[in-house]
Amino acid sequence: MGVLEGKVAAITGAGRGIGREMAIMFAHEGAKVVVNDLGGATDGSGTDGIADDVAAEIIAHGGEAIAHREDIATVAGGESLLATACEHFGGLDILVNNAGILRDRTLFNMEEQDWDAVIRVHLKGHYCCSRPFARYIREQGRNHCRIINFSSVSGLFGNFGQSNYGAAKAGIAGFSRVLALELGKYGCTVNTISPAALTRMTIPLRERRGETVSEQDLIDSGPHHIAPVATWLASEAAGHISSQIFHVANGLVGIMQQPAIIASFQHERAWTLEELDEYMPKLLQAKKEHDRETAEAGKPVMIKAGWGSQN
Ligand SMILES: NC(=O)c1ccc[n+]([C@@H]2O[C@H](COP(=O)([O-])OP(=O)(O)OC[C@H]3O[C@@H](n4cnc5c(N)ncnc54)[C@H](O)[C@@H]3O)[C@@H](O)[C@H]2O)c1
Repeated sequence: MGVLEGKVAAITGAGRGIGREMAIMFAHEGAKVVVNDLGGATDGSGTDGIADDVAAEIIAHGGEAIAHREDIATVAGGESLLATACEHFGGLDILVNNAGILRDRTLFNMEEQDWDAVIRVHLKGHYCCSRPFARYIREQGRNHCRIINFSSVSGLFGNFGQSNYGAAKAGIAGFSRVLALELGKYGCTVNTISPAALTRMTIPLRERRGETVSEQDLIDSGPHHIAPVATWLASEAAGHISSQIFHVANGLVGIMQQPAIIASFQHERAWTLEELDEYMPKLLQAKKEHDRETAEAGKPVMIKAGWGSQN
């Protein structure tokens, strides 16, 4: 029996890339899957029927799936995602907010439509799909639900030329922390994945640097590396885990630090500028030491079993 037997999942942007891999693995583990995708280009333009192809592929392999081709960055699209799950599969247990687009430009060249399009699909998309699901969980008393959101190192660390995408992805991390608090008492966990995988979103970035992507690169760093962690987070095994950010890429799974105060000094009155001349360097020094410790602690511990062999 699969770890998602009896569960219903809705995955946005599941027509290709990371979303498709999650849809296939969720179905393999017994979930009935609503495969959402409007099938646009990387910049969000256009549509096609790729959600139908993934749903058909799941059904051909004996699973249960239905395609949903709506734009998840509209309130109506988010509501119809939930309605599709309820009408076809009798409810919804797992929402994965994965759909995404890119419009990379430095701020100098960032037009209003590039800013709005990226914030809309990522940040508003998370809102549009999560709000109906949150209301449904509360109204129906649906237990053991899961929301899995998609952030990025672009927003968590920063990445040149992605102020729109980075703002949306940092916003998603903040959104997830709040949602975890609000839905915790209804037994719903909310976690965030920061993935790295070779997909149509990232392959062109490599190619622009003059690097080629081989078949072996796709095996080593493809989107199938993200699906097992998402599946595990969606399963009963992860019922006690919420408000966390997991970094997942080519065989690596890591837990990320959340914003926290590293060092502080307290006065009984407001600081003078002269005092800040003295204390700001102490704060920056504390931050530097903390960064060094974190960089060391975050280095991957290599797990030999399964690394190129089954033994
Ligand atoms: N690939 C990476 O290395 C990487 C890194 C960091 C974050 N991410 C995030 O992971 C998620 C998946 O990315 P991917 O690499 O698989 O990209 P992808 O382009 O392969 O897939 C994204 C899918 O989302 C769909 N989509 C876009 N806008 C939509 C909308 N409004 N409604 C419905 N569907 C829509 C697209 O049609 C596409 O099929 C994204 O949120 C992305 O930002 C990916």
